[in-house]
Formats: sequence, C-alpha cells, structure tokens
Amino acid sequence: MAATRTTLAMHFVVVVAVMAEGPSGTTVLGTAPSPGARTLGMLFSPQLPMMARGFLWLMLTNLCALAVPRLVNIGIDIVEGRGATAPLSLSAVVALIVTLAVVGGVVRTQSRLVLFNAGRDVERALREDLFAHLATLSSTYFGRSSTGDLMSRLTNDLTNIRLLAGFALLNALNGILVVVVTLPLLFLLDVKVAAVSLLPFPLVIIAAQLVSKRMFRRTRENQDAIGALSTVVQESLAGQMVVRAFSQEDLVVARFVEKNDRVFHTSMRLARIRLLMGPLMGLMASFATAAALFSGGYAVAAGRMTIGDIVEINTRLVQLAWPMIALGFTLSVWQRGKASLSRINEVLVARPDVVDGAQRRSANSLQGPIKVSGLVVNVGAPPRRGVDDLSISVPAGSFVGVVGKIGSGKSLLLKAIARQLPVERGQIRIDDVDVIDWHLSALRQAPGGVAVVPEDGFLFSATLRENLVFGAAAATDADVEAVVDLVDLRRDVERFPQGLQTIVGERGVTLSGGQRQRVALGRALLARPAILLLDDCLSAVDVETEQNIIRALQSGFGVDAGGHMAAATIIMVSHRLSALKVADLIISLDQGRGVERGTHEELLASGGLYATLWGEQQRREELAKRLRGDAA
Ligand SMILES: Nc1ncnc2c1ncn2[C@@H]1O[C@H](COP(=O)(O)OP(=O)(O)O)[C@@H](O)[C@H]1O
Ligand SMILES: [Mg+2]
Repeated sequence: MAATRTTLAMHFVVVVAVMAEGPSGTTVLGTAPSPGARTLGMLFSPQLPMMARGFLWLMLTNLCALAVPRLVNIGIDIVEGRGATAPLSLSAVVALIVTLAVVGGVVRTQSRLVLFNAGRDVERALREDLFAHLATLSSTYFGRSSTGDLMSRLTNDLTNIRLLAGFALLNALNGILVVVVTLPLLFLLDVKVAAVSLLPFPLVIIAAQLVSKRMFRRTRENQDAIGALSTVVQESLAGQMVVRAFSQEDLVVARFVEKNDRVFHTSMRLARIRLLMGPLMGLMASFATAAALFSGGYAVAAGRMTIGDIVEINTRLVQLAWPMIALGFTLSVWQRGKASLSRINEVLVARPDVVDGAQRRSANSLQGPIKVSGLVVNVGAPPRRGVDDLSISVPAGSFVGVVGKIGSGKSLLLKAIARQLPVERGQIRIDDVDVIDWHLSALRQAPGGVAVVPEDGFLFSATLRENLVFGAAAATDADVEAVVDLVDLRRDVERFPQGLQTIVGERGVTLSGGQRQRVALGRALLARPAILLLDDCLSAVDVETEQNIIRALQSGFGVDAGGHMAAATIIMVSHRLSALKVADLIISLDQGRGVERGTHEELLASGGLYATLWGEQQRREELAKRLRGDAA
C-alpha cells in the first residue's frame, strides 16, 4: 500500500506542479505578479460552479468506463467455468457492459459541453476586459505597439486561453480521476504485478516535466512570430495605397515572406517537441503492458491470479495510458495557454500615462482660457524634450496661431493641451485648473469641452453623417446641415450619390484628403467645443476655402440650433502662414522652444524667422497665381 500512496502522490504533485508553476512566474491560486495581470486562478474563479458541475459529470463518465474491466474479468471467470462463485450471470454482465457504454457516452458529451462552455466564458470575459483596458490606454501606448500585434493578442492568444480553460482543464481533471480510481484497483488485484507494471510511469512524468519547460519557450517564440506577421499584414493592407504609389510590392512581399518563414520555423520547432510527447508516452504504455503480462503470467502460474485478472489489469493499464498519452498534448495546450496569458498580461499591466484627476465640470461649458507655463513634454526612448520650457497665455475666445518647421513640437503642444500626452514639467491650466487635476471626460465631453482635429482626419467606414455626428449624438439635422456649410462641404455632399448617407470606405479612402479633413473638422465642430485645437487640419484644402472656414470659425460656429454659440478659443497650427494672418497672437516654435511671438504685423516688422518664411510663401503663391493666369 505504501507504493500506492507514493505513486499517487507523485502523480498529483506533478499534475498540480505542471499546472501551477510556469516560467512566467504566475501560479494557479497565487496573487497577480503585477497590478492588472491575471492569473489562471482569477480567470477560473467565476467559473468554479460550472466547472464543478462539469467535474461531477466527468466523475460519472469515469465510473461507467472504469467499471467495465471488472465486468470483463467476471465474464471471463464465468466462461472459464468459475460461474458458481460469480455474483452475476453472463447475460447480466453483457447487458451491464452495453448499458454502461450507452450511459457513459451520454454523460461524456454532457461533461464536455459544460467544461468547454466554461472555457468559452473565460475567453469572453477576458476579451471584454482586454478591450476595455485598451480603451483606457493613452496615445503613447498605441504609438509604441502595433495594431496587428494587438489584434493577434485579441484573437489567437484568447483562443489559446479558451483551449486551456476548456480542453486542457477537462483532460487534466479526467487524468486525475482515472489515476485516482485505477491505481487502488490495480493494487487491490495484486500488489507485485501492479508495482512492476507501473514502473515505466514515473519516467513518463519526469520526461513530461523536462519537455514542458522547453515547450513554453518555443510556444512563446511562435506566438510572438504570429504577432509580428499580423503586424506586417495589417500594415501592408492599410498602407496598400502607399505601397502601390511607390511600386514597393516586392519589398512588402519580401517582408511578409520573412515573417511568414519565421512563423513556419517557430511552429516547426514547437511541433518537433510536441510530437516527441506522443510516442514517448505510447512507448511507456507498451512497456507497462509487457511488464504486466510478464509478472502476471507468473502470478497465474502460481495460482495467485486468474486469466480474468490479467485481462482486467491490462485493460486498466490501457485506460491509464490514455490520460498519460493525452498528458503530452494537454501539457502543450496548457503551456500554449499560459504563454498566451503572459502576452495578454503584457497589455493588461500597461498603465495609461495620462490619468483622471478629480475635477468635474460644474458649468455647462468650459470658459476657455489656457495658460501654459514652463511646459516640457518628453518624447521617445531615451526621452528627449519635444516641447521645451514653453509659456503661452491664451485668453478665452482668442485665436492663437502656431507656426514652425516640421518637428518643432507643434503637434506635441496641442496633444499636451488636449491631455493626450503627459506633462513632464511646468503646467497647463485650462479654466484656471491644472490639466492634471481635470477628469479626462469632463475635459473632453461635448458640448463645451476640448476638441482636437489632427492633420489626417481618421474616418470610420460608416456614412458621412455618422462620421460627422460621432462625438455629438444629440446633433439635429439642422446642426449637421449648418456644419456642412461651415466647413464648405456642401458641393461635395451634393455630388455624392447618397449625399450624407454615402458610406465612406475604410478610413475614408473614398474621399479626397481635403474632403476627409473637412469632415474631421465638421465632426469636431458638431461637438461644439469651447476649445478647438487645429493641427494643420486644412493643409489639403485650397487657400481661399481655408480662409473662408477660418473666418466662419472666428465669428462663432453657428451650429447651435437654439442659440448662437460664442466663438471658441482656437489654437491653430498651420504651415500656411496666410491662414494665420488674422490671429490675435502667433507663436513661432523652434526645437520645442517659443522663439517669436506677436501679431502678424509685429512679426513681419521684427524681421525674424516668421518674416523669412512669410516672404518665401508669398513668392511661391505669387508664382502659382501667375502660372494659373498664364494657363487661363
Ligand atoms: N511618439 C513619438 N516618439 C518619438 N518622437 C516623437 C514622437 N512624437 C513626436 N516626436 C518627435 O518630437 C518632435 C516634435 O514632434 P511634433 O510636435 O509632432 O512636430 P511638428 O511640429 O511637426 O508637429 C519631432 O522631432 C518628432 O520626431
Ligand atoms: Mg505636427
């Protein structure tokens, strides 16, 4: 009996150890290694009632299956002529075997259904958490990570977790049940025979442990390769216009082939080690059968056992071998699930670098004064100053222009004001409250909040109207029509087949750059912001249209169906200096520093960087006008 306990204990220890301890350092029931990360225990605990139900069905299944070898044993005894001592008749034995097969089949289906459903629930809950978490992360995070890789985490990796929580759990539980029932029965039949035939099994367990460590590493390698592949696919599809324009199809295909090869090689490496498991386990099962026949033969000769006993032992060894063979596969699914969980945890532990403050908005609308003092914004790794010690005072309702060369920090300034980037040093005050203290939704919420219009307005594949009202669900048709006029989209809309109901292609590919920009501006205006941050968002629109739009913006948006809306505070970045002539104040940035400031006239008079740029642009516009004149 001592041998029983040792072997049993060993199997338990191994199964539990394999489940609990992985190279990722998470444990089944341990606490999460860092805030946000999930452990298997956290994923499973809401499913415990369902899993318990599945486990009950599984126990019934095994009762049915594990009774059969004993019935066969009794049947053989009867056939051999020892029917007198048998508790049942031969026909009763046969009827029982058939009944158990039918009942066992039904119950097995039930147990799979319940446990697999638990796996699906785990997957759904984790996917929801993951997506909700992504929504809290700031633009810095999305700047660092690739869409394709995130997509692969939201799909492939979650599938692996479903398999872990369903398939692998079922097999592990099943294995434990079979072992717990079979081992005592074997030893009750004959201790010596049982001990000899079980000799190969510890070797299996040790081999499984060795292989599983390596399997985790290779699995992780393979999953990262899949992530990299989906990045390439996603980028080349999204950027297919650029690819064609520069006829770089070959380059894209080459990059794809490289990543695809990597997926192939890593999955081959993984498959090699996974394939090793099956034969290894099968070999052990055959050794066990041979050992049973050998030692059982002697026991029969010595009169300690019947032929029926040997058949029962052999059947039980085969039943025991199956979970062992499946153990290899189960381990691989388990490790794959754990590797996937570690990839998902990488996302879950990411913290937004811009977080909510406590300040809610009391009045209906922000008033709009902005005060920037000594602002430093860092970018990149290692961090360097993108905005450097910048101070600006923007009174409510004023129009401030920002100019500067490419990379001078204009966009960073707007993003910091809109709280898309963290403030490294200094302060930004909106309505005399530090932006750090503002609750993000209070700051951004429509109407009367802060709106940013980036240079390349992103559009959803939806109708034009849906794109326009994205941030303003309450907008009326009159509001939408007013904005269409304001951003000079009227003629374009009339030319579209279904007007405002026209569906723009993915990211708005069916629109021109200028149309896209004006839709994006319209979307911001419909949210009726008190502070409007324009990041070169009319660069693809012609000069006259841009000036018309700016004039309209300065005199209020006029989109409020009820009352007229006061003019917002506007900060506008533009490469086209003529657009900013009417600004109350113009700041000129150089390497993140404010180098010049004043009105258009003041800056021209001072003869600095602004004056030089102005001269260049004037000459270019003159030239363009003359060329148009010649052509006419
Ligand atoms: N996410 C980022 N990571 C690293 N560097 C960045 C990032 N965003 C901007 N930068 C760098 O910061 C500087 C200012 O950028 P930006 O404000 O976008 O310039 P611009 O004046 O053209 O709008 C540039 O040198 C740019 O390369
Ligand atoms: Mg920019």
